[in-house]
Amino acid sequence: MMKKKIIVTGGTGYIGSHTTVELIEDGFEVVIIDNLYNSEAEVADRIFQITGIRPLLAVFDLCDREKLQSFLQSQGNIDGIIHFAAYKAVGESVNKPLEYYRNNLLSLINLLEAMKTCGIPNLVFSSSCTVYGQPAKLPVAEDAPVQPAMSPYGNTKQIGEEIIRDTAAATEKIKAIALRYFNPIGAHPSALIGELPRGVPENLVPYITQTAYGLRKELKVFGNDYNTPDGSCIRDYLHVVDLAKAHVTAVKRLVENKNKSDYEVFNLGTGMGVSVLEAIKSFERVTGINLNYQITGRRAGDIEKIWADPSLANRELGWRTVSTLDESMKTAWEWEKYIRKDKK
Ligand code: WQD
Repeated sequence: MMKKKIIVTGGTGYIGSHTTVELIEDGFEVVIIDNLYNSEAEVADRIFQITGIRPLLAVFDLCDREKLQSFLQSQGNIDGIIHFAAYKAVGESVNKPLEYYRNNLLSLINLLEAMKTCGIPNLVFSSSCTVYGQPAKLPVAEDAPVQPAMSPYGNTKQIGEEIIRDTAAATEKIKAIALRYFNPIGAHPSALIGELPRGVPENLVPYITQTAYGLRKELKVFGNDYNTPDGSCIRDYLHVVDLAKAHVTAVKRLVENKNKSDYEVFNLGTGMGVSVLEAIKSFERVTGINLNYQITGRRAGDIEKIWADPSLANRELGWRTVSTLDESMKTAWEWEKYIRKDKK
């Protein structure tokens, strides 16, 4: 039987590459579109090392409407698209709002127009818990109010969801699922793929592993005066492989027409809150390394605490996280050592 074909935009990136591995291992044919703005082509080689199959990698920008249309037309029957490709640095987006709106929204609009032209029925969209801002009630479920975005990056996720919702409602043949990630961390157990932030990491776990490796002098803990048990911020950290598997179940739900409406939203998290200091302790426990960190002032834009109510995804997608925080930290560390070994 012909393999179902899935286009993964941003498929050489952090979550995109892990999702590509899980799709291939689940029997899908994967074609990656990536402009390599924040990743490298050799990720496709490492996906081959893991799965024994090298996905086709088309290197171009989704903002190039004509190129996108002609490429998708050349691919024959496509069963679905998983859309990761976007700029995603919260802090950078505050300084460069127009770049974020143009890149993240124009690429999505081009993709949706191409889906209509090429008859591609299914879309899974990479969204974020950032749409909730600081929820009034925790854990946060999908019916929690979307709050005014704290950054242009977060706003592109909110607007992106609305564009997809309205397009699916107006277009008979398009149905979509938005996956609202909490905080993805860790790396593939092979240590061949993982998170590789450009320049100074914004996110906590890559900053921890780079500090432990000696690339950064110390980790700054942004505040311990929050209204939380140990004073540091709380997040819902989920392993990137668990997150990747959720994309496979979501795209199968659409391909098999098991979706209950033309636009569905799911929170993807563990359902457990973990503080920054607890995350540091987990890393120290699994690696035996005493991390050099200092408590400093709060980071502008940080919310105090958020963790998911993942029960809808548990029930409807038959998906739940399985990896522990310690396992996530262990894989993050193994990946850091792998990616640095030739660069020391
Ligand atoms: C986590 C906690 C920081 C770095 C963002 C986006 C979200 C998603 C994940 C893309 C916070 C603290 C961090 C450091 C620290 N991105 N921290 N020292 O801000 O929860 O979420 O990244 O989809 O959309 O909003 O993640 O890892 O930056 O921060 O103390 O050097 O770690 O204050 O409490 P965040 P993060």
